[in-house]
Amino acid sequence: MIVLGIETSCDETAVALVENGLKIHAHSVYTQIAAHRPYGGVVPEIACRSHVEILPGLIRDTVADSGLAWDRIDAVAVTYGPGLASSLLVGVAAGKALALRLEKPLIAVNHLRAHIYSLFMGREDLSPKQVYPLLILLVSGGHTCLVRADSLNECHLLGQTLDDAAGEALDKGASVLGLGYPGGPAIEKAAWDGDPGFVRFPRGLRHGAQSSLAGSLERDLCFSFSGLKTSLRYYVHDHPDVVAGENLKNVAASYQAAVIDALVERLERALARHDVKAVACVGGVARNQVLRDKLTELAEARKLPLLAAMPEFCTDNAAMVAGLAGAPGYPAAAAGMDLDVEPNLAL
Ligand code: KG4
Ligand code: ZN
Repeated sequence: MIVLGIETSCDETAVALVENGLKIHAHSVYTQIAAHRPYGGVVPEIACRSHVEILPGLIRDTVADSGLAWDRIDAVAVTYGPGLASSLLVGVAAGKALALRLEKPLIAVNHLRAHIYSLFMGREDLSPKQVYPLLILLVSGGHTCLVRADSLNECHLLGQTLDDAAGEALDKGASVLGLGYPGGPAIEKAAWDGDPGFVRFPRGLRHGAQSSLAGSLERDLCFSFSGLKTSLRYYVHDHPDVVAGENLKNVAASYQAAVIDALVERLERALARHDVKAVACVGGVARNQVLRDKLTELAEARKLPLLAAMPEFCTDNAAMVAGLAGAPGYPAAAAGMDLDVEPNLAL
């Protein structure tokens, strides 16, 4: 089954053609970073307009790149949430139009489930059968959660952030340090030969912090990054010279270490409580090499394979959308033409 996937949940416009969940015939990502950079973050109105401008041509070019005729496409898959409402709308409208025109089913895909599936992209050697049950750290700009997956379709949320996502914490931290947008790669670069022990930033939930988002989740598997961001602000307020000074790399490395330690610590706790066959890391922040190195150490200590999504498939892309929709065993029920976006869709 060949699926054409569309992803427009945030600031990447992406299209892919994937066969049977694994074989990528073509995938293209148009990143809007340059358009948002002057504002220091994603501006929803600009993102949505850019999707409208880019998506039709990107669909045409990606199908041409694949070398496949249009009539080889068996289904159209589109991300319908979670994400920015106006951005999601563009992809969903395009998906509907294409499915109608091709007279093929439309498959609605959850962006978070697609991120989880991204660990299989570009890994035709990996069989989903070998990896479950699996513990996943999903770290992106909009989400940070710990998920236990017992199969492709059975995902259980174990923990999540109660305020900012890890990527958001890095983006905001980079902005405070004057490092530009997007913050994750900017902090990683600035921190490269910095001393992560230079400042000891907080790593946990504030004692007694309450949030309805924790719900029935185990609180010590939940994350909180807003206190960390505030302590960086105080630090920079007290040490204004740091922003342009020689210690910038040390402060960046210390901040990055605080974010990463908080992630690794929760994952370690979850591993102690859940008997799994492998540990995985997906989402934009999973591109970070310091995080990948720490996770490698953790997985080796536990004698578990680490399945980190390939860097190319960590950040938003449509291969993971088309891949999940066409994966053997995925219940790809056709969505109706009344499919609506769900900006707050849960896992
Ligand atoms: O998964 P993604 O493309 O979008 C969402 O679904 O949110 O993730 C984007 C996030 C941004 O916050 C960005 O700063 C972060 O991923 N990111 C990184 C790196 N590359 C991207 N964070 C840390 N290190 C990186 N190398
Ligand atoms: Zn994403």
